[in-house]
Amino acid sequence: SKKLNIGLFGFGVVGQGLYDISLSRNLNLEFKKIAIKDPAKKRTLPDNLFTTDKWEILKDPEINTIIELINDADAAYEIVSYALQNGKNVVSANKKMIAEHLDELVAFQKEHGTSLLYEGAVCGSIPIIRNLEEYYDNELLYAVSGIFNGSSNFILSKVFNENQSYNDALKEAQDLGFAETDPTLDVGGYDAKYKVAIAAAHAYGLFIDPAKIMNIGIQNLQLSDLQYAREKGQKIKLVPVAKKQNDSEVSIYVLPKLVKKEDFLFNVENEYNGVSVQAAFADQQFFFGKGAGGHPTGAAVFSDVSALRYDYRYEYKKTLIEKKVQFNNEEILQV
Ligand code: HSE
Repeated sequence: SKKLNIGLFGFGVVGQGLYDISLSRNLNLEFKKIAIKDPAKKRTLPDNLFTTDKWEILKDPEINTIIELINDADAAYEIVSYALQNGKNVVSANKKMIAEHLDELVAFQKEHGTSLLYEGAVCGSIPIIRNLEEYYDNELLYAVSGIFNGSSNFILSKVFNENQSYNDALKEAQDLGFAETDPTLDVGGYDAKYKVAIAAAHAYGLFIDPAKIMNIGIQNLQLSDLQYAREKGQKIKLVPVAKKQNDSEVSIYVLPKLVKKEDFLFNVENEYNGVSVQAAFADQQFFFGKGAGGHPTGAAVFSDVSALRYDYRYEYKKTLIEKKVQFNNEEILQV
């Protein structure tokens, strides 16, 4: 396999998780430089590994692989689009940036023969993008849904099962490194929306502006709502759905939903995620795993890095080429 000379952007929870995993594996890769925002922060690695100048990485001809793990979606877009247009392969876990620019990013890859992978952007450790890419028949796939946000699920679990307060549970999700820097993205259902939009691209070949997708989060749930669920022997979960309404239309939304005991999602607690895929003939598959945290998400990022050694790329071959469905939320918005 070819040697990867890596320029890493961001050394937060996921960046450090990825670094730990890489150290424990003896693959043919080298971290050449790590771009960071705050040079004053104490780091465990030598100073000369770090830079605050993105061009030191992007213009380095030896660096053939960019791993983008920063928080700022606009800055991430600048980095990733430059890299893809200048011969560098990219791994990113930035769901907001990817969801907002996916069609353009796919075009850059095609035009310049580069590859962008982002398994770590959707549902942490669960390899859902690869599974949707390689699904047995995407035309017969009719629903992707589940629990896509670890922080919201963590909060709901703590409040429902342990009677913690909403604010304490949120604080704990932040302390454990699960939440976004702006936790409104988690509890408002935005993070889950970006993820389901990305999943829909691989499931159905749909590139949808996330601004068009309805999202209702958990921030306005009342204790009485949880109590109501409890009395019915059910739970409330934040559920993103991308579902075919008929042969040609898919609706996509994120909503808190009542979940029954028989549903796989009922037992998905804390920072765990679950993804259900349904298709004709194949019935249902359910994927379960940690959806947030440095090592689980780092592992998904690592899987992409590892795949780049063999020039893996997403081809969208069963979806984009014969794109047969359209996004249509009208049915939902009428409810
Ligand atoms: N904030 C995200 C979550 C991190 O809680 O699921 C993983 O994408």
